[in-house]
Amino acid sequence: MEKVAVQLGQRSYPIVIAPALLANAKLQPEFSALWHYRQVIIITNPTIAPLYLSSVRDLFAGADVHELQIPDGESFKTLQTFEQATSFLLQQKISRDALLVALGGGVIGDLTGFVAACYQRGIEFLQIPTTLLSQVDSSVGGKTAVNHPLGKNMIGAFKQPQAVLIDPLVLRTLPEREFAAGMAEVIKYALLGDASFFDWLLAESDAITKQSPAVLSEMIRRCCQMKADIVSRDETEQGERALLNLGHTFGHAIEAWLGYGTWLHGEAVAVGMLMAAKLSASRGDLSSEQVDTISTMLTLFKLPVLPPAGMQIADFFPYMKTDKKVKAGKMRFVLFEQLGQAVLVDDVTDVELNQVFANFHV
Ligand SMILES: NC(=O)c1ccc[n+]([C@@H]2O[C@H](COP(=O)([O-])OP(=O)(O)OC[C@H]3O[C@@H](n4cnc5c(N)ncnc54)[C@H](O)[C@@H]3O)[C@@H](O)[C@H]2O)c1
Repeated sequence: MEKVAVQLGQRSYPIVIAPALLANAKLQPEFSALWHYRQVIIITNPTIAPLYLSSVRDLFAGADVHELQIPDGESFKTLQTFEQATSFLLQQKISRDALLVALGGGVIGDLTGFVAACYQRGIEFLQIPTTLLSQVDSSVGGKTAVNHPLGKNMIGAFKQPQAVLIDPLVLRTLPEREFAAGMAEVIKYALLGDASFFDWLLAESDAITKQSPAVLSEMIRRCCQMKADIVSRDETEQGERALLNLGHTFGHAIEAWLGYGTWLHGEAVAVGMLMAAKLSASRGDLSSEQVDTISTMLTLFKLPVLPPAGMQIADFFPYMKTDKKVKAGKMRFVLFEQLGQAVLVDDVTDVELNQVFANFHV
C-alpha cells in the first residue's frame, strides 16, 4: 500500500496505490467520503468496461449508479463527446452533489475531468486511471481538456479530483506498447528530478517489465509524489510545472509531423528526451556516457531512440515555433543542468539545433 497526498489547501486530495485496490477500496479510510454520494456516474469506454466496470459498480453499491461509455480513442476527446456526456447527465437529472468517476486512461480522465469542471459550474470527480501513463501522470494535477480541430488540449480547465485510486494490477491487460509509452513518462520523472530514481529503474528493469505488483506500486508512488510536489508548488504552470514538459517540444513535433496517432505520445517523448539530452551534452551539461545510458534505458523499456525515418531537424522547426510553450517568440526547451535536474531554457538557436542534429539518423 502506497499513499501520496497532493497538498493544495482546500483542494488537497489523496492518491492511494495498491494491488487489488479496485476490490478493496472500501477498506481505505482515505476514500470514506466517496461512499456517501447518492448519485454516481461512471464514465468509461467499451474496451475498459468489460474488464473493470463491474468492480467499480460494486464499490458504489447502494448509490444510484449511472454508466456512460464513450467510444475508445483520442479522436473522441472532443467537444462533441463533451456535449454527449453533459446531455446524458442532464437527461439522467444528475444534480450538483453527484460524483463523476473517470474509469480509463488519459482520454477518459481528461474528458471526465473537464465535464466535472463545467457541469452546473463544477461537480466532484474521482480518478481511477487504468493506463500506466494516466497512473503516473494525467490523473494527478488537475489538468483537464478536450481537443479542438485546431489544437490538442486547447479547450480545458484546471479541476482537481476528489481522490485518485490506482490499482497496478489493471496494467496486466494493457497492450505492451501502451505500457512502454507510460514508461517514457516514468523515465521522464527520473531524468528531470531524481537521479537515484533513474538508477533504481535500471536496477529494477526486469521486475518492472514482469509487472511485479510491489515494484510497480513503488514506481508509481515515486512518480505521483514528484508530480504532487511540483503541482503543490505550481498548480497552474507559471514556472516549475513546465519542467514536466521534458522531451515534449521535440516530441510534439514528431507527433504532428507524422500525424497524431501514428506514434504514441510516450514514444515521441522518449525520442524528445534523448534529443534534449544530446543538446545538453553539446552544451557540456551531460557527458556522452550519460546520453548513452539514457538511450540504453529507453531501449530496455522498448522505446524508440531515433526520430521517424525521413524526419530531418528542419522538419521540427515549424512545429516547435508554434508550440504552446513558445513565449515572446522564443522556443522554450527543457534541458538538463545535470542528470536528474532539468531546467527551462529559451536561448537555443536554429543554428545550434542544425549543428547538434545535422546527422541524427547516422
Ligand atoms: N491531464 C494531464 O495532465 C495529461 C498528461 C499527459 C497526457 N494526457 C492526455 O492523456 C491522453 C493519453 O492517455 P493514455 O495514454 O492513457 O491513452 P488512452 O486513454 O487512449 O488509453 C490507451 C488505450 O488503452 C486502453 N486501455 C486503458 N486502460 C486499459 C487497461 N487497463 N487494459 C486494457 N486496455 C486499456 C484504452 O481503451 C485505449 O485504447 C492524451 O489525450 C493526453 O493528452 C493528459
